[in-house]
Amino acid sequence: MRCITVCVAVAALGVRASLVRRDDAHHPETPDTAPNLPIIPSVPFLGNDAMPSSPPSYPSPNTTTNGWWEHPVKRARKDVHAMSLDDLATLVTGSGYGNGPCVGNIRPIPSIDFPGLCLQDGPTGLRGVDYATAFPPGITVAGTFSKELMRRRGTAIGREFRGKGANVYLGPMVNLMRAPAAGRNWEGFGADPYLNGEAAFQTVLGVQNERVQATVKHYLANQQEHFRNTGSSNLDERTEREVYLHPFMRAIQAGVVSVMPGYNFVNNSWMTQNSALLNDRLKRELKFQGYTVSDWGAQHSGVASALAGLDMTMPGGTSCCDTNLTSFWGANLTQAVTNGSVPLSRVQDMATRILAGYYFVRQDEGYLKPNFNFMDIDDPATNEHVDVMADHDVISREISTAAIALLKNANATLPLHKPKKIALIGSDAGPFALGLNYYPDNIGWPYGALSMGWGSGATMNSYLVTAYEAIQQRARRDHTAINWSFDDFDYVNARKVANYSDVAAVFVTSLSGEGYGTVPNSKPVDKAANMGDRNNITLWNGGEKLIQEVAAINNNTIVVVHAVGPVLMEEWIEHPNVTAVLWAHLPGSESGTAVADVLYGDYNPSGRLPYTIAKQRRDYPAEVLYNSDAPQPQINFTEGLLIDHRHFDAKDIEPRFEFGFGLSYTRFNYSALDVEFIGDYGHNWNHKWGHHKAPDGLPSWLFEPAVRVSFTVRNTGDMDGHEVPQVYLRFPNDSGEPPKVLREFDRVWIPRGDTVHVHHTLSYYDLSVWSIPHQQWRRSPGTYEILVGASSRDIRLRHSLL
Ligand code: BGC
Repeated sequence: MRCITVCVAVAALGVRASLVRRDDAHHPETPDTAPNLPIIPSVPFLGNDAMPSSPPSYPSPNTTTNGWWEHPVKRARKDVHAMSLDDLATLVTGSGYGNGPCVGNIRPIPSIDFPGLCLQDGPTGLRGVDYATAFPPGITVAGTFSKELMRRRGTAIGREFRGKGANVYLGPMVNLMRAPAAGRNWEGFGADPYLNGEAAFQTVLGVQNERVQATVKHYLANQQEHFRNTGSSNLDERTEREVYLHPFMRAIQAGVVSVMPGYNFVNNSWMTQNSALLNDRLKRELKFQGYTVSDWGAQHSGVASALAGLDMTMPGGTSCCDTNLTSFWGANLTQAVTNGSVPLSRVQDMATRILAGYYFVRQDEGYLKPNFNFMDIDDPATNEHVDVMADHDVISREISTAAIALLKNANATLPLHKPKKIALIGSDAGPFALGLNYYPDNIGWPYGALSMGWGSGATMNSYLVTAYEAIQQRARRDHTAINWSFDDFDYVNARKVANYSDVAAVFVTSLSGEGYGTVPNSKPVDKAANMGDRNNITLWNGGEKLIQEVAAINNNTIVVVHAVGPVLMEEWIEHPNVTAVLWAHLPGSESGTAVADVLYGDYNPSGRLPYTIAKQRRDYPAEVLYNSDAPQPQINFTEGLLIDHRHFDAKDIEPRFEFGFGLSYTRFNYSALDVEFIGDYGHNWNHKWGHHKAPDGLPSWLFEPAVRVSFTVRNTGDMDGHEVPQVYLRFPNDSGEPPKVLREFDRVWIPRGDTVHVHHTLSYYDLSVWSIPHQQWRRSPGTYEILVGASSRDIRLRHSLL
């Protein structure tokens, strides 16, 4: 018997009273019919319903010497007092795109012995740089539901950035999967605020413990690629705090050094000059002590952005990404201070925050200078080609394997036992004929093993182990006859190869990326290409047809899906010959190894879906806005708190596979749920709320432990394995919250026959909702219930909490 203790503060969620469903008459797969949802009149947007607004909040709060930041901020302040105004302007202004080896660069400041900064993408590892690891992306590590793997991935990424001399890791990316088709979902951690929050927390700790600055992005509610520079995400305060702000709060609690305001508007205020969200929310309420850095070219004003709380502009020029350095800041900021438009103290605070971040992770103690040139990685004069990969293939492989969710396993067809004959079908099973890294930033029609999505979040692959490579090795050992058909469109050959095989594994994909790249999803290109966001949430290269052709001839068809997000499966999931489905997310370089380990039972699958897979597209509560003639398209978050599984629960819609779902080769039994009050006031836990106002920032008691949840899980099957018990909370009926919200999770190892005790602690915050009238986190009157389950719909234990 073993005991596992997990104690983390978690978020509260909520729900808006009513919800507008889309018109079902619209064809779900046609983007141009995806409507812009109307605003519900009762929704407390500020401004008016047609044009919500962000309230002004000035002045910009100075950073503080609180907690961990005391020494770094004191040192930074000393430097700042010795700096000229020109030096200050240099420190806060990027050197201009291409003026330096990294995607963003800050020039050295000799007067304070400061070597400058190298900022480099991205969330998945070092972008566009050789001898670096193509880690499994955010969506994949989210699928492990393992805090340990999230942390270890962060550590490995941090080591690689440090080894290349990059000061700033432009990640993690924590924009929730609001609309399943949104292009950059794969860079982040799925559709649940809590899951995103814990992944952000662990990633930041992992990266920053390696002395690399992390930049959590894109602040805030940057949820789609269409209209990425002009769209306004309109949301009410409760949704903002309980859903979209939560992961940023967790990153700040982990000590994140910087936050990146995105390209979008929120409530019609551009994020790089949104004083409500920069000055008030981030710097006052959440007491963020580091610096804000604009997304590349997202700054649109000099004075306004300075006063609203922006601290660094990237890449420095007025647009992204050209080498012409006309800047809103630089010499213009100096002038704005000289003529009184911007107080000197504001620029000093920008500089303090930037230098404090540098000291916070001890980059003044012998940190390497960049040894690569992102702008030209083949230039012999500027690239040292330092190999930073170490043994990071090990953690990458573990994550890619642990993330695989087994969604179907009819008649225990898996794991495989030395099959006599196996067929691999689909281009994703084998290498791309034109080689690795053929498309810069992965922007191109995918054919061959899919490693990740496209855009600034992509990395190059130094190697890529395909299913063909991994399974062929196994076939040699087992004396299995293997054959393949890697053409997605050659159905005649696919059927021929699949015929008379005792297993036919079909590999299919779905891809998306960042909006500066547009990619077609079939051959010949007969559909509009995808402008970052997916046009459809179906398989690419007509994968449905390939599955059906193979299943028509082989009664043991196993489907392996590599995808950026949900894909509709109704056309084939219930086909009696489709016996098993592996949901393998985006694997990075360890594609085939991960799939082979699960197929053959070397790894008992433990992955869980970090989002819901619906039966039809219109079942989802939110949609990408694809079409608008408005100069500033209004993207109204009328679904409020009801994204993903909260919506399916609240509206009683049956999904194909629910959030948190994944099968195992063994079985687990849950028992002995115990819930204990551990806060100051014992059973009278109501007492905390309402007695402590905190006009300036959140009160510390909010994050103290309030309730302990314990239960046991027993492995009753005949294989060792991991289980992912999930703790959900049911708020009192009148709270306006969804039927259940995730509050804790972790992955636990349980040998067969063994029982594990699991303990989690919920804080007062976890039990609170944001009250707009009170401007406070508050308890909801009534009975709460703790739910423990193996998925969001497989609840095994309940306990009420009065
Ligand atoms: C992306 C950011 C990225 C930056 C620098 C922007 O286009 O939105 O995520 O960090 O470019 O490459």
